[in-house]
Amino acid sequence: MRSLLFSGVAALLLAAVPGTAAVTVKKSDYAKLPDGSTVSQFTVTNAKGMEAKIISWGGVLVSLKTPDRTGKLGDVVLGHDSLADYRADTGTYFGALIGRYANRIGGAKFTLDGKTYKLPVNDNANSLHGGILGFDKRNWAARAVANGVELALTSKDGEEGYPGTLKVVVTYTLTDDNALRIHYTATTDKNTIVNLSNHSYWNLKGEGDVLGHLVTINADKFTPVDGGLIPTGELKPVDGTPFDFRKPTTPGARINQADEQLTRGKGYDHNWVLNRTGKGLELAARVAEPTTGRTMEVFTDQPGVQFYTGNFLNGSVKGKGGKPMNQRTALCLETQHYPDSPNKPSFPSAELKVGEKYDTTTEFRFSAR
Ligand code: GLA
Repeated sequence: MRSLLFSGVAALLLAAVPGTAAVTVKKSDYAKLPDGSTVSQFTVTNAKGMEAKIISWGGVLVSLKTPDRTGKLGDVVLGHDSLADYRADTGTYFGALIGRYANRIGGAKFTLDGKTYKLPVNDNANSLHGGILGFDKRNWAARAVANGVELALTSKDGEEGYPGTLKVVVTYTLTDDNALRIHYTATTDKNTIVNLSNHSYWNLKGEGDVLGHLVTINADKFTPVDGGLIPTGELKPVDGTPFDFRKPTTPGARINQADEQLTRGKGYDHNWVLNRTGKGLELAARVAEPTTGRTMEVFTDQPGVQFYTGNFLNGSVKGKGGKPMNQRTALCLETQHYPDSPNKPSFPSAELKVGEKYDTTTEFRFSAR
């Protein structure tokens, strides 16, 4: 016991002593849950001063401070000021880890190996972001590791309707060249489906709206949706549509254009089919904010990315400092399998079989120019 305790403390100190590691990790208590358990916070700082704060509840990235072109640090993610506010907000998923299935499953059901599984209905007739008690509402087992934090949870067989005991481990790490890396792994004891993501809301200016952010998405096609935001199954070329972000374009340029897909999404809330050449990390999207010079590049090994312009924020949700969060206050780039893949045999499969390992990485790389 004593040596265990000692090695834990030593590991933390080692990571925090300047000179022994460029990235430091500090653990603190964030809040208590009603059952008395502790929600921990991990502050991860790199040699350049970039700082990420992650809490064990929902694995939420509560703040991320990155330099602008003058070197000034600013927080580029939306969030809340307290655990109570995170817990009271059931609709935005600010900064959280999403699972077991990020995004929508049409009709809140799917069939696997001949058996149909029913999921909680929480978005029209569909199941969104893992159901009522998704991974965003769990207090993960969390510990400091080199350059970041490791979060683990076990999702029981049948939890939120999904088959198989799923063991999930997610690590957030910071690099000295200003990248935040999220590595997700999972294994199961019954064939199941998995699609994990992070639901950060980015605003590289740190205030105002994101209509003037320059967005590039590395995709020739997107998946158009029906009225319930479920993909129709078509992979539609972006060419000649407001969904063409192959060259840097602001969301504001076309978001109010008369377009059936934009109307259905109340703006951009769609999955782009990423152009991919291999299996490793490839560029999914780039966001450049002209006034601060901050640029974020998203690299992933996933087949899709949901580009969402905060369309459901309507001022009733308060963000940091109690400020009302309105439509277009931020944008999300959720790397993922395409929505409703379990019901779309033509989409890349989101199935995880017994004996396989789900293993995926997304990196958010920051710079300023
Ligand atoms: C995702 C969905 C949106 C919305 C947000 C959370 O981005 O695609 O429709 O549900 O999550 O508010």
